[in-house]
Amino acid sequence: MNVEAYLPLAGKNVVLGVTGSIAAYKAADLASKLVQAGAQVDVVMTSAAQEFIGPTTFAALTHRPVTVGLFQSNSELNIDHVALALRADAVVVAPATANTMAKIRLGIADDPLGATVLATNAPVVVAPAMDAHMWDHAATARNVEVLRSRGVKFAGPVEGRMASGLSGKGRMAEPAEIVQHVRAALGENGDYAGREVVVSAGGTREPLDPVRYLGNRSSGKMGYALAEAARDRGAAVTLVSGPTALHDPVDVEVVKVETAGEMQGEVVASSREADLLVMAAAVADFRPSARSTGKIKKENGRPRSITLEENADIIASSSGPRLVKIAFAAETGGHVEKARPKLEAKGAAFVVANDLNQPGSGFGVDTNRVSIVGPGGKVEHLPLMHKLAVAHQVLDRALPLLK
Ligand SMILES: Cc1cc2nc3c(=O)[nH]c(=O)nc-3n(C[C@H](O)[C@H](O)[C@H](O)COP(=O)(O)O)c2cc1C
Repeated sequence: MNVEAYLPLAGKNVVLGVTGSIAAYKAADLASKLVQAGAQVDVVMTSAAQEFIGPTTFAALTHRPVTVGLFQSNSELNIDHVALALRADAVVVAPATANTMAKIRLGIADDPLGATVLATNAPVVVAPAMDAHMWDHAATARNVEVLRSRGVKFAGPVEGRMASGLSGKGRMAEPAEIVQHVRAALGENGDYAGREVVVSAGGTREPLDPVRYLGNRSSGKMGYALAEAARDRGAAVTLVSGPTALHDPVDVEVVKVETAGEMQGEVVASSREADLLVMAAAVADFRPSARSTGKIKKENGRPRSITLEENADIIASSSGPRLVKIAFAAETGGHVEKARPKLEAKGAAFVVANDLNQPGSGFGVDTNRVSIVGPGGKVEHLPLMHKLAVAHQVLDRALPLLK
């Protein structure tokens, strides 16, 4: 099973509208990322955009003609001015100037971008980029409010340094983040629409003293892939995450925790009203019985010992009227046998077991080889695949079990 089959942008028609902002050069990176994610990208540029970047760049990146005018003879729009709008699975305007947002609000169609946004039924994602004063102006604020009320999705803007040299809110969101917004918009009406999914991810840290902790090697990649996959299928996702180096996924409620105790509190609370809990976090089984308030010192080579006590089982203690639970089990050898007793003990519908000794499996890597252990001893061994593909396999199997 290949991850390409699960890339939410694969085979999708995306119209990328580029407008006259200094951030227009970043739209080239966005076009490239959308193409790499498997989308067919049609770029539409305003006249002002062409003052900042040329259509040749986009044509070369997308392998498609670029539309720069409604009456341009080599554009499809010359024959059918709403051709791109009707074919689009998503329209993304990045960067979006204050001017273009105002025009979209009013339904002005005097250029190919305006006509396309007006004629499409596809989700529209807008990534504003402008000086902070322009963003803060009441006219812009009102335009954003009206567009939001019509279902337009906003990616950013973010705080940061702008071309003027000043810092403030108005900087365009990073292209990788905009891609995630497009993914989320495409999946809005997916098979998980209307479902609430809680995912736990990453490892926990159990403090010994103010500077040291007991931790584990979990990178959080499996849990983050699950959160993104569920979002891409339309779910409302809460991600309870231990410390990781990963970026927060877009359109996911991320709750950061450190200890197993904190994770338990957050997972139990968010699971009460949820449809599905996927417990992919590597939760510490033990914590030091005592936490020193000061840094523990050396004592002339004298051996030291740490007394540990057991942490609560988070998945076993989570419940809700609709909640279906899925456990993960990482073992070093005998993963299937060790997963079996966990089914009942944790009240899980199935256990996703992986053997950390297998090459390409487990912590830190982008791939995983898992076995799905279900009721009655049923075991399904899945081949080595990308964690995003594993995530979709898990969600495929959970969907028919939801109440
Ligand atoms: C150097 C320069 C940078 C600009 N950057 C922005 C910008 O980041 N955001 C914005 O809303 N307008 C910006 N403008 C103003 C727009 O280019 C102008 O409003 C234009 O009419 C927008 O047209 P369009 O929305 O059709 O692309 C900039 C203008 C110049 C000269």
